[in-house]
Amino acid sequence: MPWDPRTYLSFGTERTRPAIDLLARVPHERPRRVADLGCGPGNSTRLLRARWPEAHVTGVDSSEEMLAEARKDSAIRWEQADIARWRPRERHDVIFSNATLHWLDDHAALLPCLMAALAPGGVLAVQMPRNFASASHFVVRDVVSGGPWEARLKPLVRLDPVHEAAAYYRILAPHARGLDIWQTEYLHVLEGDNPVADWAHGSLLVPLLGALDEPERSAFEAEYRRRVKAAYAPQADGRTLFPFKRLFIVAQT
Ligand SMILES: C[S@@+](CC[C@H](N)C(=O)[O-])C[C@H]1O[C@@H](n2cnc3c(N)ncnc32)[C@H](O)[C@@H]1O
Repeated sequence: MPWDPRTYLSFGTERTRPAIDLLARVPHERPRRVADLGCGPGNSTRLLRARWPEAHVTGVDSSEEMLAEARKDSAIRWEQADIARWRPRERHDVIFSNATLHWLDDHAALLPCLMAALAPGGVLAVQMPRNFASASHFVVRDVVSGGPWEARLKPLVRLDPVHEAAAYYRILAPHARGLDIWQTEYLHVLEGDNPVADWAHGSLLVPLLGALDEPERSAFEAEYRRRVKAAYAPQADGRTLFPFKRLFIVAQT
């Protein structure tokens, strides 16, 4: 199952909010070259374009499906690439990445590499979820374990891809003149019968569902939906609260 822009954007307000909060802390007034790594359908990239209309803004993503949606906006340059191998020809003033780098390994190597792609005075701005201990994630681990799909899905489960905040200080301090690192827990208030399962369908479950064929795919998702619904009981007004921790990093060369 590939990334699906429509499903992803069904929680577009909640998913874009951390990009707005991250961008507000980027201390660059007139960047010439800006990249959005893991641009998805372009929701975060359009924020960059709106803040710096004169900059060359490039959205980078590996998903053809996400880029097909993003390309509807022709004022922005879109590039298909794997961030792990992304080596821009020219140095950038801002490298921005919202809700993406937790899909990549070895942050101790990746982040210094991105810092090296910055021009003097440039800024690396990153936001990653840090909710891997929450019920939405441990239910995934429970459903994977012991199921007929365990051998195929276990290697795809990202147990704890984002370090604690201090680890990012240690990784980036040798490369940065200024560092601003913080964490936030959003309390998303969601509508619908099983909204946490719907949310996961558009992001967390994408690689797992993609590794299964029918009828196993539906069986896996039905079991996930059943268990995650029990873990997030609705409030008296019928809405569901979805607490979501996120880590923010702004590093300046
Ligand atoms: C959760 S979406 C983030 C979209 C957008 N930045 C936002 O703020 O909502 C994550 C995106 O990262 C992309 N992605 C994941 N791993 C990637 C990689 N190694 N290289 C390029 N893009 C990647 C996915 O295709 C997906 O579009």
